[in-house]
Amino acid sequence: MKASTISTTLAAVLPAFAVPTARSTGDSFGGLAIHSGSPIHLSSINANGNAFWINKPTSSYCPNTTVSSCPEGKYTYFTSGNDTLSLSVEVPGGQRVYVAEDGSLGYTIPHGSTGGQVVNYTGFSLADNGIHLKYLGGDFIAVPVGGAHKVYAAAVEGVPKNGTSFAFRVQSADATYGAWEY
Ligand SMILES: *[C@@H]1O[C@H](CO)[C@@H](O)[C@H](O)[C@H]1NC(C)=O
Ligand SMILES: *[C@@H]1O[C@H](CO)[C@@H](O)[C@H](O)[C@H]1NC(C)=O
Ligand SMILES: *[C@@H]1O[C@H](CO)[C@@H](O)[C@H](O)[C@H]1NC(C)=O
Ligand SMILES: *[C@@H]1O[C@H](CO)[C@@H](O)[C@H](O)[C@H]1NC(C)=O
Repeated sequence: MKASTISTTLAAVLPAFAVPTARSTGDSFGGLAIHSGSPIHLSSINANGNAFWINKPTSSYCPNTTVSSCPEGKYTYFTSGNDTLSLSVEVPGGQRVYVAEDGSLGYTIPHGSTGGQVVNYTGFSLADNGIHLKYLGGDFIAVPVGGAHKVYAAAVEGVPKNGTSFAFRVQSADATYGAWEY
């Protein structure tokens, strides 16, 4: 079988959005909030309850009755596609990161959608030689909610005014996947 035939066959059996980018160890990255002198400086950006947070731990899930081993799941790792952003997960179909209409960042549940919110899945980019993540060229805002900070995109109009802006510093991860799923 020629190589082209093999890859066509593989592509045919994979779900449509399971193949965003070729992935290898080193492509995954975590996020650190950068705003010198602010209380959120150098805090990690964590996935929890389909939103992203600072000062709230990562929540992840391992279906350990059907899967023999899962990544640790303690840290939130991302992977970047062409204009898109995903969570670095093993679950088939993956989990995509989006920006909701109110400017907050969220992520899809496996095999699921976003509950009907108007969202953008594109507009993410890695800037400054891959050091910073941007959305529509802008940085991010940490809005205080219930003792933690919820992450919003600065480029979206109507983001709550009580937040702290920060740059999303890319931290390379030493694992291919961060979790089975978040
Ligand atoms: C499966 O995960 C649950 C919750 O994380 C844990 O309590 C349980 O011990 C795990 N079971 C196995 C077999 O690892
Ligand atoms: C990236 O996406 C744009 C449209 O969203 C498309 O025109 C372009 O060909 C894509 N580039 C690659 C390398 O896939
Ligand atoms: C969605 O993307 C469009 C086009 O880039 C932009 O005008 C709009 O502000 C974005 N909306 C959100 C909520 O990110
Ligand atoms: C900040 O603003 C948001 C949105 O209006 C609100 O939900 C939150 O409670 C506010 N936080 C504080 C600490 O006032």
